[in-house]
Amino acid sequence: MTLRTLLILINVAAVVVIVMIVGAKVLSVRREPDERTAPNQTPFYGDDVLEDAHLTRVLRWALIFSTIVAVVLPLYWLLEPNRQAEEATGFDKRAIERGAVLFSNKSMPNYEGAKSLLCADCHGPDGGGGAKNWVLTPEAQGNAKATPVQEIWKVPSLNDVFYRYSENPVTAYQQITQILVYGRPGTPMPAWGVAGGGPKNEQSISDLVAYLKSIQISPAAAKKVAAKKIADYKDSVIGDPAKKIDSASAVAEQKLATAQAGLAAAKTPLQTQKYQGDIKAAQEGIRRSKEYAIEVSKMSEGQLLFNTQCARCHTKGWSTLEPSNGYVPMPEPAGSGALGPSLRGDAVESQFPGEAGKLKQYDWVSIGAETNKAYGVRGISSGRMPHFGEILTKAQIDAIIEYERNL
Ligand code: HEC
Ligand code: HEC
Repeated sequence: MTLRTLLILINVAAVVVIVMIVGAKVLSVRREPDERTAPNQTPFYGDDVLEDAHLTRVLRWALIFSTIVAVVLPLYWLLEPNRQAEEATGFDKRAIERGAVLFSNKSMPNYEGAKSLLCADCHGPDGGGGAKNWVLTPEAQGNAKATPVQEIWKVPSLNDVFYRYSENPVTAYQQITQILVYGRPGTPMPAWGVAGGGPKNEQSISDLVAYLKSIQISPAAAKKVAAKKIADYKDSVIGDPAKKIDSASAVAEQKLATAQAGLAAAKTPLQTQKYQGDIKAAQEGIRRSKEYAIEVSKMSEGQLLFNTQCARCHTKGWSTLEPSNGYVPMPEPAGSGALGPSLRGDAVESQFPGEAGKLKQYDWVSIGAETNKAYGVRGISSGRMPHFGEILTKAQIDAIIEYERNL
């Protein structure tokens, strides 16, 4: 039993006793209805009693109560700041716990069927990023007659998202809240907040942000991720026999073999048609994979970094890049714009002209500009462009800038 419950019990007991005493007094009047002299007319103690034994007794009680007050007040004064601090951390802890339930998927201990929003299905249980099967609708392909295409959408990591939106902690919370409330139209990231047409109130959104804050990896670990992203990207396209990771063209060859076996065993015209389509797509996949592997093997550091860090917002179709899948269109030209504007042609040069512009571009990419503040020659930050000074080194950002200026 805690001190708190003990005090509550003592209080309840005291109230019960007082109620009983008052009750007894009231009832006793009813039981003895005969007339009595009013208390103010009955003679009280004489002076010798009042000034001696009675006075001493009263003074003793007074002393006891004064001592209690003298001890308890300073104690209260000493404990109160600590209690308030504990209340505040307890408040944060409960927000994080509620956020964890919302974030979880079935593989996680905090999962609750009726509450969890399955963020982990897309962003990974540790928030390290993942991939999600996604259907590219005819509308999204810009051709109402096209057939829907099954593709895999690469989903960004969230265990470093606070480093990307961190020029000051208040705006980091606001920017991440904004993303959760409104989602990312045209991507699998739905709007979660009521204001964006989603299901969740402000309380749940702020619980999710508190949870995301609690799963951030260390800055040193966050800096290591960039190299790993490049290695994974190269492995998935070019392949690395030492690591036994299939290259994209090996995956496409596999698809071709499956489709040819399917065609050999096909029984209906519909099946034949399907496998013929699969064979064509697989052949296209093999051709593209080989071509793209050569392209990737020649890429500069700046281009590799751009593709793994920036392209999901600045190159349409990059998130669904899958050269081995002949059904999925290859990305649009690098830097041609998606959520972020096109960086091609002289777009970057005219926003950040000359050598002085390079320094400003460096600031923009590494620390960004606060929402509604100006950047470059004619830019106004909308608060949606992340910044990379805390997860990429100066040399890496310089390499990206050099690449961008030549797009
Ligand atoms: C169906 C898959 C899916 C689900 C479910 C999902 N997300 Fe996302 N989320 C994405 C994708 C894809 C992106 C990147 C979109 C883009 O490229 O602009 C994203 C982006 C984000 C971002 C911005 C990251 C950045 O750096 O741009 C945050 C924050 C985020 N999601 C949080 C959440 C949270 C919290 C939940 C659960 C309430 C959630 N997501 C559920 C797919 C998903
Ligand atoms: C989450 C999406 C996102 C990512 C990732 C992203 N950007 Fe951006 N970027 C934007 C948006 C949105 C803008 C437009 C400015 C604004 O809205 O504040 C922008 C603007 C820019 C501009 C200025 C263009 C102009 O003409 O005004 C440059 C340069 C730029 N980004 C470079 C980068 C680089 C380099 C990276 C990777 C290291 C990157 N971006 C990653 C969303 C993104």
